[in-house]
This record gives sequence, structure tokens and C-alpha cells, in this order.
Amino acid sequence: MDLFEYQAKDLFAAHGVPVTPGQVAETPEEAAAVAANIGGKVVVKAQVKTGGRGKAGGVKLADDAADAAAKAQAILGMDIKGHTVHRVLVTEATDIAEEYYFSFLLDRSNRTFLAMASREGGVEIEQVAVENPEALAKVPVDAVAGVDVAKAREIAVAAKYPDDVLDQAADLIVKLWDVFVKEDATLVEVNPLVKTTDGRLVALDGKVTLDDNARFRHSEHEALVDTAAADPLEARAKETDLNYVKLDGDVGIIGNGAGLVMSTLDVVAYAGEARGGVKPANFLDIGGGASADVMAAGLGIVLSDPSVKSVLVNVFGGITACDAVANGIVAAFGKLQASGEDISVPLVVRLDGNRAAQGREILANAGLFGVEQNETMDGAAARAAELAARQ
Ligand SMILES: Nc1ncnc2c1ncn2[C@@H]1O[C@H](COP(=O)(O)OP(=O)(O)OP(=O)(O)O)[C@@H](O)[C@H]1O
Ligand SMILES: [Mg+2]
Repeated sequence: MDLFEYQAKDLFAAHGVPVTPGQVAETPEEAAAVAANIGGKVVVKAQVKTGGRGKAGGVKLADDAADAAAKAQAILGMDIKGHTVHRVLVTEATDIAEEYYFSFLLDRSNRTFLAMASREGGVEIEQVAVENPEALAKVPVDAVAGVDVAKAREIAVAAKYPDDVLDQAADLIVKLWDVFVKEDATLVEVNPLVKTTDGRLVALDGKVTLDDNARFRHSEHEALVDTAAADPLEARAKETDLNYVKLDGDVGIIGNGAGLVMSTLDVVAYAGEARGGVKPANFLDIGGGASADVMAAGLGIVLSDPSVKSVLVNVFGGITACDAVANGIVAAFGKLQASGEDISVPLVVRLDGNRAAQGREILANAGLFGVEQNETMDGAAARAAELAARQ
């Protein structure tokens, strides 16, 4: 889960990382109140989970409370790369001497954690990495050894942070490591990390990604979930413990096992290219034990997506054999029809693997309206794409 800047900074503050005082506001009046409370100049910042807010006009300096209200008025409702601004962070304006870059992240390809740091911050770090790669220090961090003051100093020196901030930087980096480990993050990024004109280091921006696999350890993180932004179908899938991700195509996909579903997306996208650019409408992994209830819940969610024009069910029977899955589909139809759901979208089912023949027979005998079978994955994908293209 990605956090908003203000949430990231709350975590920073909780671990002793210096940040500017501030608060979020949802209206210009609230922004004015926060600004009055802070006193003096403030910065009004769009809270959206995407980068480049400054460039898009979503970060503005305000002279006083009245000006903060005006700036908030201009920023609230703004669209930044497809994200609507519902909240702004109003925070103390800092007199900046220099801007640096710092991050901890999970380096999957090297199976380690990585610190990335640069004296050239504020700007897009991807640009620094391309144009001036030697300016971006990359220091692997051993998961067991972690980051103590000595390691933190090594990172700060590699980044070429100036000598006069090295002590502060080492202290701050240790605290950011604390955020990374104790909050179970996979990314902690500060861009810019600034030196103020009076020589203090402050995190002016914060980007944190929490590891969802560690959520069971952090009931306190529940409060950070942005329920307003969640896709309603994804929210419904989550309630039933289904692994569903909404995509923007027209072929609903249901499969068992994340790997099979991923390759089904590829095959459908490929088949769709020749049929007017038909694409998968979602990712849905119903997992190993595809009971009738799970199949019904999955089908229900996929069919409630108005952009779905055909559905491909791609199952490779393993521990859960194909006859069980076929019974699940039949029962799911019964359940959906009983609850008054309209199943007018054509379904293509491909069953293979353990007890495939029995499964196919069950489906054929059930004679479900709009359901057809295809024995190969490519064939099924082509047929589902064709049906979607025809609608
Ligand atoms: N509290 C502040 N006081 C003074 N200047 C600030 C403050 N916060 C941000 N700025 C200035 O605005 C610039 C952009 O701010 P910030 O890094 O938060 O947004 P961004 O980089 O545009 O967004 P993103 O990181 O999402 O791409 C900073 O580099 C800094 O120069
Ligand atoms: Mg930034």
C-alpha cells in the first residue's frame, strides 16, 4: 500500500525524523485555519499518490492564512495524472539552502535492501540516474546487519552529502531505517531531504510503500487505507478474500493460481490484438480450492463489471480437480440466477489437468446458457476475445 505524503511524514515524525509541522485540509477554510495555526508562510501541497505534483502546479507557497485558502482553492479538485486532489497538506515553509535525495528500498533483483542517496535532490531521481549516474550512490544494506550509525555515515559519504551535515544525516538515516523495518515498508523515500539556511536537515517530502504481506502485524495501519479511492469491485473482492485487480479491457478473466492467471492475461491480450484491441478486464485468481462459493463470488464480481463483454474461465486442475471446478461453475450459475443476477455475458471455459474429462462432461451435461468449452488455452482465449469483439 502506497501512503500519502502526510501519512508518510506522520510515520517519519513518530520515528524521530525531522519534518515540518503541518496538517491536512479538505476545504480552503480548513487550510486557512491550519495556516493561521502554523503562522507565517506555508506551503500548500496536493495529496495524491503520484509523482510530479510540483510540476503540475500542485505545490504552492502561500504568504498567510488568506493566501493559503486561495492556494488550497486552486489545488483542491485539480487533476494530477488522473488523480483528483481531495486533500492538501498545509505545512510550514522552509528556507531551503540545498536539496538532497534519499531512499531505502527492496532491491528484488539483487535480493537485498538498498540505500540510494544523492546530493542532487528535489529533481526527478530517474533523471539523475540517467544523466549523471555517478551522482547517485547505491549502497546495499544487509537485512540482518541493518543500518547503524557507521553504516548510515557510509551511505551519507557515498552520496557526497556535504561534511557539515554528515552527523545529522547519519542520525536521520538510522531513523529512516527504523521506519523501513519497524513499519514493514518496501520503500521509504525522501525527495527532497533539505538543508535549511540555518543548517538543519529536514524531510520535506515523503513517499512510503508498506508491505501488504506484513499487514497482519500492523492493525494500526488499517487507518491509513484510503477507502474513498478503492475501486468498488476491488473492495468487494477483498471482503471475500479474492485476489482481484480491475483492468481496463473487456474480457473478464477467472483462473486458478496467480501464474496461470498472469499468462491468461497475456494470451488474451495477444488474441485481442487481432480483434480490434480487445483486452483483459481484470485479474482474478480464485486460488487452489475453487469451491462453488468462491466461484460464485468470483463470477459475481467479474459479471458486475459493466465493461465485461465475455468471460474466460481458465482452470488447470491440480489438488482441486476439474470436476470439482465444473460443479462449482454449475452451482455458481444456480446461485447467481437465484439472486436475480443477469448472466447474459458469454462464458468460455477451458478445463485441463486433473480429471479434465469428467469436468468437461459435467459442464456439457449442465447445458448452461451462453457457456461454451474450449480444450486449449490459446483456443479459449481467441474465442473469448472474438466474443468480446462481437458485442
Ligand atoms: N515545506 C516546504 N517549504 C519550502 N519549499 C518546499 C516545501 N515543500 C516542498 N517545497 C519545494 O517544492 C518542491 C516540490 O515538493 P515535493 O517534493 O514535496 O513535491 P514533488 O516532488 O513535486 O512531488 P513528488 O515528490 O510527488 O514528485 C521541493 O523540491 C521544494 O523545493
Ligand atoms: Mg518530491
